[in-house]
This record gives sequence, structure tokens and C-alpha cells, in this order.
Amino acid sequence: MSETAKISIQGKEIELPLVIGTEKEVAINISDLRSSTGAITLDIGYKNSGATTSEITYLDGEKGILRHRGYAIEDLAENSSFIEVAYLLIHGELPNQTQLDEFDTNIRRHTLVNEDMKNIFEAWPTGSHPMGQLIAMISSLSSFYPESLDRENYESQKLLNIYRLLAKMPTICAMIFKKSLGHPIIYPQNKLDYVSNFLNMTFKHVTEDYEIDPVMVDALNKLLILHADHEQNCSTSTVRLVGSSHSNLYASVAAGVAALWGPLHGGANQEVIEMLELIKKDGGNVEKWVNKSKDKNDSFRLMGFGHRVYKNFDPRAKIIKKACDEMLNKLGVNDPTLEIAKKLEEKALGDEYFIERKLFPNVDFYSGILYRAMGFPVEMFTVLFALGRLPGWIAQCHEMREHKQPIGRPRQIYTGYPYRPFVKRSDRP
Ligand code: CMC
Repeated sequence: MSETAKISIQGKEIELPLVIGTEKEVAINISDLRSSTGAITLDIGYKNSGATTSEITYLDGEKGILRHRGYAIEDLAENSSFIEVAYLLIHGELPNQTQLDEFDTNIRRHTLVNEDMKNIFEAWPTGSHPMGQLIAMISSLSSFYPESLDRENYESQKLLNIYRLLAKMPTICAMIFKKSLGHPIIYPQNKLDYVSNFLNMTFKHVTEDYEIDPVMVDALNKLLILHADHEQNCSTSTVRLVGSSHSNLYASVAAGVAALWGPLHGGANQEVIEMLELIKKDGGNVEKWVNKSKDKNDSFRLMGFGHRVYKNFDPRAKIIKKACDEMLNKLGVNDPTLEIAKKLEEKALGDEYFIERKLFPNVDFYSGILYRAMGFPVEMFTVLFALGRLPGWIAQCHEMREHKQPIGRPRQIYTGYPYRPFVKRSDRP
């Protein structure tokens, strides 16, 4: 089979090398295209463009496969902890017990945030969205750790920044939650594991004891694992792009959180619950809402449906749906929106419009029901997505630096006015 692609541009023919991935995915390497022909490629929304090679995550959207460093998401969700998956993503291999203990201890050592960070909350009006706060809090870590800006010592600072960010993220997320309630914050307790510590900081009241429920710990571990990485999605590409200018890790990740916030990306988990509530309030007629989502004159879309890459099923959604049933049973929660979600899914999956366009429930369709059953308000859902995605962002950002990739700088095709002479204000019509 040929290892090159031939293209002819305005009479000029050139041969471009192919890049073949581990799983036989094929890309045309166009690095020399512009220098040899003057042309660039145009692919709005990057639907066909690879921005990088990567050894972290493999995803086959047609077959519904998701693997991290070669390990299937189903196996990781079943057998691993979130912190172990974080190690795998960042270091490339599953840790042995000593490596895992060392990683875990290093994270536990950095869970406290500087007390001055609490002052930042004073500036925000009541009711400001947790995601806006999260972006600012993560970005502000670069002010509390100015050594992270030291480009000369990037390598020696790298691990410390990783530990700090992984450790402080749950503390910051829980602080945001407590502040939204006007409650005093609960400090981290380093005897607790990553997920239990987060649950304790979030749900414990200063005045009362809080018993950490192992069912919740299991479910949250699973949810965080399912969100841990997803190759070159919008937020991860943002982290890599920002990091490619050698911006510090905190600023790069804060930019990723901003990208995640949008309702077409991670913000969809909040929108799903709001949509299900709306359908419930409207009498639960799912057919009406499925029809609305098909109407091109109506801006309504079925949130939690469709995916840029998955065109058969989203393996994460399958695992979450099962976990959702199990956890609601174990916690004895009866959530009528789960019934509406199931009916909506059934209706949409049998509908020609959705079949033709290969639209299936994605990771966000059922995750919100689980988060709500745990006691999180909807505004916190995307924060939880960010907490889960953090190790992926870190791994991808460092891979980009290790591969010594150049600054990301797309080109464009200009479609505005050609040159025109300046018109003095007095002569303008
Ligand atoms: N409801 C109704 N129609 C839809 C939906 C939907 N949720 N999603 C896509 N379509 C239609 C769309 O109108 C278009 O139809 P046509 O070909 O007639 O113009 C066709 O399907 C293709 O859609 P697209 O918008 O061109 O596809 P995309 O790859 O650019 O967008 C998406 C992918 C996820 C942004 C989109 O499916 C969507 O908006 N879904 C709802 C939001 C959502 O659930 N986002 C979470 C994604 S998974 C979590 C994560 O971000 O990682």
C-alpha cells in the first residue's frame, strides 16, 4: 500500500507522506504543503484535521472504543481508582503499589490552598457561576506559586506543579460550593483518599459529623475516571494551544476550564438536567421535545445527545447509565427525571432523524442525574467534569511540551475587502 498521498493543486502535483497510527489510523502529513505549493488546508471546526500525534488516548468513534495508554475505559472504570488513572495518564504506565503510594502522598501533601485565596471570593457577587470562579481560582495559583512562571526551570518545577494542581483542585471546587451556600469552608484532611476528601470538604457541615458513604465514593471515582481524558476535544486542544506558547500550567488549565464551560462541551451536563426538568414540568411529553429538537427553525437541541467523534455509541454513557441505575437503587433515591431521560432516549434512538445523523446519548446525558443524587446542585456539574478532566489536561499539556511542539498558530483564508484607500471622515457618506 502506498505510504504517500498525491495531490494536484492548480496544475502542481506534490506527494505528501502518510502518518499511520498504532491502530492503523491514517493522516496525510501536510507540513510541507504551504512551502511547496503556497496553499493551505481549510477545515472549519477541525472536523478532519489532526493537530498532533499522541500516545495518551485512543478513541474509535465508529466502534465506540475509548482507551487510555492502551487500557479500555470499561476496565479502568471497573478496577481502578481516579488517582491511579491520573498516574496512568500522566506517567504512561499503571503504577505499582510503591509508585501509587508515592504519587498519592505527594498529592495529599499539597491539598491546602493559601489562606489569601479566600479573599478572592469577596470580590464575586452572590450567585456568580462556579465555572467562572473556577477559571479565576486556577489561574490565580500562578500568582501564589510564581516559580511556576520560571521558564528556565520548567523541568524541575514540572512535578511540583502537577502535584499542586491535582491536590488543590478538589479543595478549590469544594470552596466554591461552600461559598455559594455562604457556609464556612471545610479544610482538607490528608488521612482521606482523594475522592473521600473532596466529598468531606463539600458535604460536611462545621457543626455536624459527616459520614462518607462508600457508595458515593465508588460512584464519584467512576464518574471522574470516565471524564479523565478524551484526546483532542475542545478544552484539551485549548490547553495544548495555550501551553504551546509556553504559558504556565495553571493558566493553560484555566483556559481549558473556560472552553469546557460551553453548553456544547462540558456545560451540557447542567443543560441536560435543566432540559429534563423542563420536560417534566411540561407534562413529560417526550415526543414533543424530540420533535422540537428536529425542527430547524427551533434552536432547541436534545442536550446530552450527539458527539463529534462517537457515531455509534459513547462507551462512557453506557457505563454511566448502568452506574446511575445501581447507585440510585443503593441510595434509595427515586428521581422521576431518570424515567424521563430513559423515555427520551428510547424515543430519540428509534427516530429516523437521530438514526440518520448517528446521534446517541453522550457522557453528559446521565451523569447529571448521578451528580444530583449525590447532592450536587446543577451549577456544580461542569465543575465536577473539570475535576475529572484535570489529569487528562495535565498529561496532554506535558506531552505537547515533551514532543517539543511549536507554538500553535492556525492560518486562515481572508474573505474581507481587498485593499482600499483610507477615506477622510468628512468625505464618508
Ligand atoms: N439534537 C438535535 N439535533 C442534533 C443534535 C442534538 N443534540 N446534535 C446534532 N444534531 C444535528 C445537527 O442539527 C445536524 O443536523 P443537520 O445535518 O440536519 O444540519 C447534525 O445533527 C450534525 O450536528 P453537528 O452540530 O454538525 O455536529 P457536531 O459534530 O458539530 O456537534 C455536538 C457535536 C456534541 C456539539 C452536537 O451534537 C450537540 O450540540 N449536542 C448537544 C450538546 C451536548 O450534548 N454536548 C456534549 C458533548 S459530549 C461531552 C463533551 O463535551 O465531551
